[in-house]
Amino acid sequence: MSNFVLNAHSGLRYLILLGGVLTVLYATYGVASGRAYDKTIRILASAFAGTIHLQILLGLALLLSGAGFQPVLIGHISMMVFAAAAAQIPVSVMRRRPEEAKSILPHGIGALVALALIAGGILAIRPSIFG
Ligand code: HEM
Repeated sequence: MSNFVLNAHSGLRYLILLGGVLTVLYATYGVASGRAYDKTIRILASAFAGTIHLQILLGLALLLSGAGFQPVLIGHISMMVFAAAAAQIPVSVMRRRPEEAKSILPHGIGALVALALIAGGILAIRPSIFG
């Protein structure tokens, strides 16, 4: 069980990193070309934030299934929780704004900050982001 959850937790990182990179790239393109706020950025940013939240649940399941808590995990976990917040805040804020006040840039900034925190969170427990 613990091994299955560890493999899922380990593999989901690639989907999360892909979601983050696509969100940053699309936001950069959108801002640079002056595009209006659209469904694509909303879906990309929501999917990125959603997969981070799923990963947090898997991380908790990993701990509960006996992965063993080591103090080094404090850095891993706290950076990932901040990453989830950085990715989620622009999604929640934009959802509440009227259409004409929505903006692409906060999604790009939020995703970039989240990616940096995720990289830091992985490097807190492993020698490389992909290792
Ligand atoms: C974006 C969020 C997260 C990402 C991308 C992430 C990524 C990773 C990666 C890549 C590993 C190494 C897996 C391997 O050895 O192949 C790992 C291990 C682990 N993570 Fe996460 N993690 C996240 C959030 C969390 C959270 C929120 C928790 C706990 C609440 C957690 C708990 C753990 C545990 C217990 C391990 C195993 C450590 C060990 O065996 O040394 N993770 N995580």
